[in-house]
Amino acid sequence: MKIELNNNKVFFNNGSSVEEIHPFWLRERANGEKFLDKGTQQRLFDPTSLNVEIGIKKAQIKNQILEIDFNDGVNSKLNIESIAQEFNKKDNDIHSIEKVKWDSKLKTIKNFEFKQDLFESKDMFNILMSFYKYGFVIIKKVPTQDNYLVKFANSIGSVRRTNFGEHFNVKSIPNPNDLAYTSLPLAPHTDNPYRNPVPCIQILHCIINEVKGGFSTLVDGYTVSEILKKENPEFYDILTKVKVRFKFIDKDVVLEDWSELIKLDENKNFKQVRFSPRLDYVPILEKKELDLYYKARKKISDLYNSAKFRIEFKLEQGDLLMMDNHRLLHGRTEFDVNEGSRFLQGCYIEFDSTEGKLRHIKRKFNL
Ligand SMILES: [Fe+2]
Repeated sequence: MKIELNNNKVFFNNGSSVEEIHPFWLRERANGEKFLDKGTQQRLFDPTSLNVEIGIKKAQIKNQILEIDFNDGVNSKLNIESIAQEFNKKDNDIHSIEKVKWDSKLKTIKNFEFKQDLFESKDMFNILMSFYKYGFVIIKKVPTQDNYLVKFANSIGSVRRTNFGEHFNVKSIPNPNDLAYTSLPLAPHTDNPYRNPVPCIQILHCIINEVKGGFSTLVDGYTVSEILKKENPEFYDILTKVKVRFKFIDKDVVLEDWSELIKLDENKNFKQVRFSPRLDYVPILEKKELDLYYKARKKISDLYNSAKFRIEFKLEQGDLLMMDNHRLLHGRTEFDVNEGSRFLQGCYIEFDSTEGKLRHIKRKFNL
């Protein structure tokens, strides 16, 4: 990668092609103290108020610094290294973390242990890297008093409050408004598919667990959808195309959102799964199409529920599980309420919390 000058024009040479860098692109990066606030790195001027026909009067490179005199009288010194970094056009901190696909054979997951300065420590970097690779991470011995879960969430970023409150308590109660609050088994599902946006990350904290059953289960929706893509492309296609309605109602609120069961990004890569077959309603389509859709949904449900893809583990008192609700499905096995108490607390945070914390820790420790 090289920045080159020719006839008062600036070029970017990446080895295989040479492209001119737009003078306005360089002008709006003017970074003298008149133009950029050093602390916030925010502009002190509004580039939309500049003449778009801006040009370069003179340009030179000395000691890795590109110095430009623009035709509006502004002089700017830009670091070549930072210009080059912008040519990645991607958020490298998060998108460069490669997802590790896993199934029931996953054995080597490292658990972390809570400590007082965890949120500002290098451990937090490893915790978040593990989270982004596998879609979940477990931190042991997290304090269980006074809804510490909420403090934990707010120490990574900000808790996402919903109509269930800041956090929710998972234990069996009389007349529950959700099957989560019974002792019945819960099949793999994603949480709150009816919200816009769907909560990104669920945090579950085990306060007490005295029962023999009640194992937590996780399935990697990324692994399953990639297998479906390979083995049943017709099923994969329809599940990535048809938007279905998810709905939640209670006496205070009606929540509704429409989405594909497998959502792809603009490059047709995996973005998100939603799965909660008690809540999804497919719109009326041609009979032939619905025929395919129902077969496809049955197939993905069979895969999600298969022991081949599921890991099972028992959350012990103090264990805190942080899981990607856009990637993983979670559930639990049945338990017997007569054996003792089982009490988990849960809450949600969004990806801006984990992304913001990860970039901060990387900057802090130069990682
Ligand atoms: Fe759930």
